Amino acid sequence: MHISSLSLSNFRNYSSEKIEFSQHTNLIYGDNAQGKTNILEAVCIFSQGRSHRAKTDRELIRFGEEFAKLSLDFHDNERDYNAAIRLVKNGKKNIKVNHVQITKLSMLMNYLNVVMFSPEDLELVKGSPSARRRFIDSSVSQLYPRYLTSLIDYHKALGQKNSLLKTLKYKGARSDVMLSVWNEQLAVEGSRIMEYRRDFVTLLDEFASKIQSEISGEQLKITYSSGIKTDETDKSSIFKYLERNQRREIELASAQVGIQRDDIDVSVNGKTARVYCSQGQQRTAALSMKIAQADYIQRIKGEYPVLLLDDIMSELDINRRSYLAEKIRDKQVLITSTDTDLIESTPDTKLIYVKNGTVTEQ
Ligand SMILES: Nc1ncnc2c1ncn2[C@@H]1O[C@H](COP(=O)(O)OP(=O)(O)OP(=O)(O)O)[C@@H](O)[C@H]1O
Ligand SMILES: [Mg+2]
Repeated sequence: MHISSLSLSNFRNYSSEKIEFSQHTNLIYGDNAQGKTNILEAVCIFSQGRSHRAKTDRELIRFGEEFAKLSLDFHDNERDYNAAIRLVKNGKKNIKVNHVQITKLSMLMNYLNVVMFSPEDLELVKGSPSARRRFIDSSVSQLYPRYLTSLIDYHKALGQKNSLLKTLKYKGARSDVMLSVWNEQLAVEGSRIMEYRRDFVTLLDEFASKIQSEISGEQLKITYSSGIKTDETDKSSIFKYLERNQRREIELASAQVGIQRDDIDVSVNGKTARVYCSQGQQRTAALSMKIAQADYIQRIKGEYPVLLLDDIMSELDINRRSYLAEKIRDKQVLITSTDTDLIESTPDTKLIYVKNGTVTEQ
């Protein structure tokens, strides 16, 4: 899978630019605050259906402008695609894939696969469970639209259940028929979600442990730790488990158990990475998990994703930098950096210089 050209109008600090990419390494360089990450962000929107950092579409529109337009040409083994997005400040966005209109940005998710590496990846190891759930969800949703639908339905039902729990506590109730209705729905979607998550984590562990051992000789172990503590994970066992927790959930006026509490345990040489590992070991674990995410996409989809490396080279020591360079040698990758010396260039490397929202290709 690869991307060939990106056009931006009124996107972030770009007024009007078209950038052509090489199928190998693209080194996007320039000083701070010139628009390097903005390019990766634009590509990311085409894959994830949303920006990895903006809270609202409005932020993406160039200051003082009413709308932004983005267009991307990309290709997989089977066909060529063009996707186009028009964002309007006070109106509805418009999205097209091969000239056919689609209704939601999230529907873009299953066409283009990318994996973004950034210094924040450290959160995968150090951060809260929600960072790890986001990682699982974005990895799996990219490949399985059904998973995303289940996840959306699950969270809708969970929201309803939580409001009901508040009124039940207020009324001093001990159980409720409607509560069981929501639990039923949470059990159906929850068991489906768990199955996808477990399969993902199994492969992630297989790939990431191999990578970590190649980089540092350490033993990385990743295991799925569910918010549903039952031996069986079919929907009726999950339903019974949710029902057993009714009384406590009413007392506390919020849902206490369920897959919204899922996490993954990351350990290095048998010790919990979050607690015992050095910063360097944590970074290696996070890097291994991200490379493993790309391997997972390749395994399931049969195509390697486009890699976006945002400013991570300066964070890696020479050993890890050369490991990564070897891994990405024949892949399409967009790397941002302020310092071109950190990246080994080959005759195939394309240099893209960015200054104040203007791109010069060399
Ligand atoms: N909506 C917007 N309209 C105009 N300019 C914007 C908008 N949003 C962000 N910018 C500008 O884009 C620039 C930041 O771009 P970007 O994050 O791509 O920088 P960068 O080159 O990656 O820098 P660094 O090396 O520091 O990471 C900033 O100057 C910021 O003010
Ligand atoms: Mg940046």
